[in-house]
Amino acid sequence: MNRVPLLVGARGCVSLEKYVIRGGKKLNGEVVISGAKNAVVAILPAAILCDEPCVIENIPNISDVTIILQILSEMGAKVRMINKTTVEIDPTTLRNVPVPYEKAKRMRASSYFLGTLLGRFHEAHVSMPGGCDLGDRPIDQHLKCFTALGATYYIDGGMVNLSADHLIGNQIYFDKNSVGATINGIIAATKAEGLTIIENAAKEPHVVDLANFLNSMGADILGAGTDVIKIRGVKYLHGTNYSVIPDQIEAGTFMTLAAATRSNILIKNVIPKHLEPITQKLTKIGVTVEQFDDAVRVIGSDNYTSTSVKTQPHPGFPTDMQPQMAAVLTCAKGTSMVTESIFDNRFRYVDELRRMGANISVEGRVAVIEGVDGLKGAPVKATDLRAGAALIVAALSAEGTTEIYDIYHVERGYENMELKLRSLGADIKKVDEPDPAEAEKALRKAL
Ligand code: UD1
Repeated sequence: MNRVPLLVGARGCVSLEKYVIRGGKKLNGEVVISGAKNAVVAILPAAILCDEPCVIENIPNISDVTIILQILSEMGAKVRMINKTTVEIDPTTLRNVPVPYEKAKRMRASSYFLGTLLGRFHEAHVSMPGGCDLGDRPIDQHLKCFTALGATYYIDGGMVNLSADHLIGNQIYFDKNSVGATINGIIAATKAEGLTIIENAAKEPHVVDLANFLNSMGADILGAGTDVIKIRGVKYLHGTNYSVIPDQIEAGTFMTLAAATRSNILIKNVIPKHLEPITQKLTKIGVTVEQFDDAVRVIGSDNYTSTSVKTQPHPGFPTDMQPQMAAVLTCAKGTSMVTESIFDNRFRYVDELRRMGANISVEGRVAVIEGVDGLKGAPVKATDLRAGAALIVAALSAEGTTEIYDIYHVERGYENMELKLRSLGADIKKVDEPDPAEAEKALRKAL
């Protein structure tokens, strides 16, 4: 096994790169889906609980992963890339170092360090998590769970500080169906004494994947994927070799891309069952979706009909696919209604689609889309990760050139998006924008 450097490509929040996309071309060919972002960002921090080194395969090269590996490394874990998609983590040398604001602000998943550090050291100091701005994103349910297990907490200067003499299993009912709180609950309870029962648990595929990862190390977790999860605490977790599931949302994004560009694309390395809510909606508007064991073929057509979409926890339509589906519906005949029931501010991309000619109005949590004949390229900006994906979907189907700014959002969650699209025949390139702040400084100097 060769020692290779940590994944590269993590950008700060001030990346000045943009995508330049010339749309209106049909795409063709096959694309291979990477490991699931939302699973790997839970699994990597959860490796802290392991009492031996462990190997994690099928990790995507995205900036969220790079940041988590950097955090682990800075805390003293030995992090070694075995190849581009496989990492070995030896957490036995890890020290309990606070997770600072600069790192935590970059992603929501930094909150998982609360559960893992509490589980391992009975103490955690983590800056309040960041991530996409989708409205209010409290962590009250995470804290409810930690306190039920015996921890106390205080928040000071933006840091969440947790400590516990002992972690003792308990019965926890979540008032909100929360992916993050369920994952943190599973993680913290894995090494607690006795039995923890989590009710109203999230059922998302990445919750199941995290539980499978922990079970592969000797944890005793039952019921992941249902709304009641039982965790019997264990004292020791042995090393494992675990492969992360394929990314449901990356696959769904390519499905909407194929639909919007009226293309024929084979999407490989997927779990078709995870894609069912997306398949159902696409089929309903007139897209053909063929399912195979670990692939789906999506065949677009020239005429789509409008539909209603309401986001729901799994197995409902995923909120992380809402913007991309809306992008497809901009050109479906008639009036479509898209209702967001998970987050209160997930329509910030609508203004950008309007710049491209979409006819969308938003009333509270409902977007009403009047189908238009086609979109036109325009300069737009990604307001968050999935908003950026929706703009790519729109740009590839639009006539003319679209420039998408703030693509660092996209790179947080999509591996090699540009290369994958180019291999399908898309006309997309990444271009470095001159830094406006630097340009202003130079101008001031010259004056
Ligand atoms: C995760 C996903 C994100 C996805 C979301 C919903 C990761 C890293 N991110 O985010 O991509 O969009 O699930 O599928 O996996 N809530 C509370 N209190 C809490 C926690 C959540 O009120 O303590 C609310 C949130 O504001 C939101 C709802 O519960 O309205 C669902 O949030 P949650 O499932 O926790 O989302 P995340 O885990 O942040």
